[in-house]
Formats: sequence, C-alpha cells, structure tokens
Amino acid sequence: MRVRPALRLGVNIDHVATIRNARGGTHPDPVRSAEIAVLAGADGITAHLREDRRHISDRDIERLSREIPLPLNLEMAATPDMAAVALKHRPHAACLVPERREERTTEGGLDVAGGKANIGPIVAKLRDAGIRVSLFIEPDRRQLEAAKEVGAPVVELHTGTYCEAFLRDPAAFEHERQRLAVAADEGSAMGLEIHAGHGLAYDTVGPVARMRPIAELNIGHFLIGEAIFVGLDESIRTMRRLMDAARAEADAAGAR
Ligand code: PXP
Repeated sequence: MRVRPALRLGVNIDHVATIRNARGGTHPDPVRSAEIAVLAGADGITAHLREDRRHISDRDIERLSREIPLPLNLEMAATPDMAAVALKHRPHAACLVPERREERTTEGGLDVAGGKANIGPIVAKLRDAGIRVSLFIEPDRRQLEAAKEVGAPVVELHTGTYCEAFLRDPAAFEHERQRLAVAADEGSAMGLEIHAGHGLAYDTVGPVARMRPIAELNIGHFLIGEAIFVGLDESIRTMRRLMDAARAEADAAGAR
C-alpha cells in the first residue's frame, strides 16, 4: 500500500509581530515563536512580508531564514519589488497573495485568471531561483486552471469564506466545505499540489484536514490568539492533534 504523506502544518507567526509592533520594541520576538513552533510539531514557518510592513519586517525574514531549521514560506504580493526581496532571502517557498493597503487581512484570493500577464513572469522568476511557488486562490476551477497555466506547482485554497460560514449557518458551511473539497480534487487532478488556509480554528480544521488531496495547512491568527490563554506550544500541539486525527480518520475510511 502506498503511504500517503502526512498533512503538513505551516505556522504563521505574523501576529506575534503585530503585538510587538503595537509598542515598537522587540518583544514578543517572532523568531522565538518560530522556535516554539519547531518544538511543538510545525512542519514549516509562514510569514507575510506586507508592502506596508505592518507586522513582519525585512529583518524578521532575514533572521527566520538564518535561525530557524524549518522551511520558510514567505507570503508576498505579486510585485517586482517583492520578488526582489524573495530573491534576496531565497526562502524555501513563496506564496503569492493579493494585497490592498486598507484591508485588515488577506481578503479573498489572487485573481490569477485576470492577472496572468503580471503573475506569470513573477512565478517564472521565483521558480528559476529554486523557490517553490504557490498561489493563494479562491476554491474556483477558473483560478485553478489559470494557476496551472502560469506554471505554479502549488495552490493554496482560501478558507476564509468557509470559516465565516461556520459562524453563520450550517447549510452555508456545508456549501463552502463542498466548494473546497471539489477544488482540492480538481486541482490535484490537474497535477497541482494543494494547500489551504486562512481563518482556520479548532472547530473548522477537521473537515479541511479530511480532504486527502490537501498536503499543507497554514494557520496563524487563531493559534497566536489561543496562545494568550494556553501558551503557544499548547495551541500548536492541540491544532496538530486535531488535524492529524481528522486526516487519519479520512485515510482509514479511504483505505477501506
Ligand atoms: N494563508 C495565507 C496565504 C494567508 O495570507 C494567511 C494570512 O496571512 C494565512 C494562510 C493564515 O491565516 P490565519 O492567520 O487567519 O490563520
């Protein structure tokens, strides 16, 4: 029997930097949170270097690259300036995300279908440098096809609408869950590696972790928020347990 790779967890540490920057000093240090994530079972560290540098800084990226033994996934806008930053630091992976200065967080996926001319050359440049490129998209066939067309090996499906639906009503939640499941299957059939993330919490991670084409989840805000109550080590370990249990259940059901 073929052994499926385990579902990877990328811990996004942006909001450790948000708290640090609220007072402009050096505490709490995002690199220290990454060290804790390593010990708590993360498979990678994710950080979004926004164009306005509102949380993670260039120095954080430099230190994370140098001091943390796990693969670094750099989230960045699809611009030539940010591509130059990525080429300087050469992270393991880069995830291209849409960015608007006035937004509170990454609202919605990247419009790859409507922006192939801009996105294609950036994907090529990063790939040529040996960086694994992913595109953060809505769970939508048109965007999956466009991602494939511009040569991205990986897509990350935006789980924001799915997570919001969980708080709204069960029918909407089920609808969004199915949209994600269909996109994960379709993308995988196209040969894309599938990741997912945004807004995931203890009560929403299970159904996504059960989607077997998904190879990686990137989770941040909830883990850092929960760490206020239980500590970061514990919040990551609990998330890890929940996602591993859900994936093991799906594997067992699939193997039957
Ligand atoms: N994946 C991507 C591409 C993101 O932009 C973000 C948020 O920065 C996340 C995952 C993590 O989202 P959250 O912090 O809501 O868990």
